[in-house]
Amino acid sequence: KEGKLWGGRFEESVTDAVEKFSESISFDKALYKHDIMGSRAHATMLAKQGLMTSSDRDCILQGLDEIERQIEAGEFVWRTDREDVHMNIEAALTDLVGEPAKKLHTARSRNDQVVTDLRLWCRDAITEILDRIKRLQVALVCLAIKNEGLIVPGYTHLQRAQPVLLQHLLLAYVEQLERDSSRFINCNDRLNFCPLGACALAGTGLPIDRFMTAKALGFTAPMRNSIDAVSDRDFVLEFLSANSIAAVHLSRLGEEWVLWASEEFGFLIPSDAVSTGSSIMPQKKNPDPMELVRGKSARVVGDLVTLLVLCKGLPQAYNRDLQEDKEPLFDSVKTIIGMLEVTTEFAQNITFNSERIGRALPAGHLDATTLADYLVKKGIPFRTSHDIVGRSVALCLSKGCQLLELSLDDLRSASPVFEEDVYEFLGVENSVKKFSSYGSTGPKCVAEQLGFWISKLDIN
Ligand code: ARG
Repeated sequence: KEGKLWGGRFEESVTDAVEKFSESISFDKALYKHDIMGSRAHATMLAKQGLMTSSDRDCILQGLDEIERQIEAGEFVWRTDREDVHMNIEAALTDLVGEPAKKLHTARSRNDQVVTDLRLWCRDAITEILDRIKRLQVALVCLAIKNEGLIVPGYTHLQRAQPVLLQHLLLAYVEQLERDSSRFINCNDRLNFCPLGACALAGTGLPIDRFMTAKALGFTAPMRNSIDAVSDRDFVLEFLSANSIAAVHLSRLGEEWVLWASEEFGFLIPSDAVSTGSSIMPQKKNPDPMELVRGKSARVVGDLVTLLVLCKGLPQAYNRDLQEDKEPLFDSVKTIIGMLEVTTEFAQNITFNSERIGRALPAGHLDATTLADYLVKKGIPFRTSHDIVGRSVALCLSKGCQLLELSLDDLRSASPVFEEDVYEFLGVENSVKKFSSYGSTGPKCVAEQLGFWISKLDIN
């Protein structure tokens, strides 16, 4: 143990309890790559600005290379008494190259350093998430391609509503995921500004070049206000919000597929590779992965709430509370990536049971709205046709039959407008074919949607 970590002003080192309570190295070492990246850019800038010699800079850059190598080889010793990733790396650099390393922290504070690392880390995490979202979209589109023409009951209030193409339903999730992607991209555009050089909060009187470091690190520009730069974690809040919305989308898909895999629905059969059994009930085959997708969405939402509550009481500028931003951020990202990966694998390992789905279609009068539209085409006001079809449905209920099983006389007892051509509108196949509005479930409209996604996602 090194003793007085903060230099001259201190007479003793912190107690063991305080050290253990305050350390962040156990989790923020995940930032090492970005911390080293930031230090490289900072040292290069300091040398260019005459704040260190080029030989100091070269020592530092070589030392940082060696430290990165050691970390990646698992040889680096992370020390709790050095508190966090920033001090671990800087102190190890000093151990390694001596005097020159003492110049690295010129015009820099851990306050601007940590938030620079964090923004760089988020940028990489977003790239990874975008890739996983795309893979899931591809899996869903492939599933749609495999199930061309399959009609399923569409639900509202979880009650039979209208017949839809399964492709249409799957592509609804693809759309939702696309908006998720755009949220991540927006979030990335807003977070990609550089806090480095804000120092503790006020900036510095030393002649640094913040534009140079911002550019070297791939940021759009340095942040305009040094107090803002070290204070806020709104970019993490936005990121975790985007994660939460995506997690909620996945949770809903999970819920639907769990339901569809039940004996009661029987619409979906997961392969054994994505199912688990029971330790007591020998017959069981459970869709656990999608249940866990649903379940883990709770963590992602919880991580967002943690951060919202963390930030809400903080005055400007940096407060140590902000150290608590990392674990929810890391957890949220790890969880959403796992959810995306497993949902993709699940999608690649299910079949839709067309026989069971086919048997389910006649129930629930899914074609009733199409029948009402038939009457509208014959000139009946919609409210009147709604009532007429309602009476026809009531007749079906009393006879225990479907609309298409009613005779023309039966139908005419509700309205004389019905003619022989009404049977072209009845039954789920006929009904689905009648949809023609933009974005509807009609086969032509769905084929257009599918074509759009096949080319957008570059599927063979
Ligand atoms: N480990 C700290 C954090 O994660 C780094 C910044 C600490 N700054 C300070 N002045 N104590 O926020």
